[in-house]
Amino acid sequence: MDQNQLKQQVGQKAAELVKNKMIVGLGTGTTVHYLVEALGKRVAQENLDITGVVTSNATAALAKKCGIQLKSVDEVAQIDLTIDGADEISDDFQGIKGGGAALLFEKIVATNSKKNVWIVDQSKMKKQLGAFPLPVEVIPYGSQKIFARFQQAGYHPTFRLTSAKQKKKTDSGNFIIDLHLHQIDQPQTLATQLIQQVGVVEHGLFLNIVNTIIVGTPDGPEIIS
Ligand code: 5RP
Repeated sequence: MDQNQLKQQVGQKAAELVKNKMIVGLGTGTTVHYLVEALGKRVAQENLDITGVVTSNATAALAKKCGIQLKSVDEVAQIDLTIDGADEISDDFQGIKGGGAALLFEKIVATNSKKNVWIVDQSKMKKQLGAFPLPVEVIPYGSQKIFARFQQAGYHPTFRLTSAKQKKKTDSGNFIIDLHLHQIDQPQTLATQLIQQVGVVEHGLFLNIVNTIIVGTPDGPEIIS
């Protein structure tokens, strides 16, 4: 099975967790794409009545195409369940997200959800975080100064670029600086340091957020709680 088939497997499995009348947070990325398609099928075939709260413009466009009604996070009292992908998950259930540049809305939706489920292919499961570059969302004004501070701190930063070599803009119009740390020994300490920098909007360390992980393996989806 290739990576895409594993992503499809967990996307479809996670769609089974959604029950009638739920308010569902919908993450962003290629794995979530399969989830949204599977949910759209359930809406059409089973008359499933759900409301989606999306984490990006890309997921909003797909969800609408799949017939899922949407509300913004501010229009709902609470989200019952959020299902999202992840870039890296450590043994102790901590995660790096933001590979798709949607980390800000993803964290807002996740922290307003009763339950969070991550869906990943098995390559995302790691002993320790850090091999995947850690995304940090910063406002454009003064971003060069933050970049220089990250360089001085030895974080090996790079601005995320588009295919046209322009600085990538998030759905909120911010930039992403990726930190090439290779190994993160103390995620909580790093998270605190990053969020204290003026101009940093959010970072991709998702700590103590996830309740359940569905991992795609050649033997089928493995559910870890
Ligand atoms: C987007 C994310 C994604 O969930 C993460 O990058 C995983 O994406 P994919 O399912 O495409 O591998 O955090 O900001």
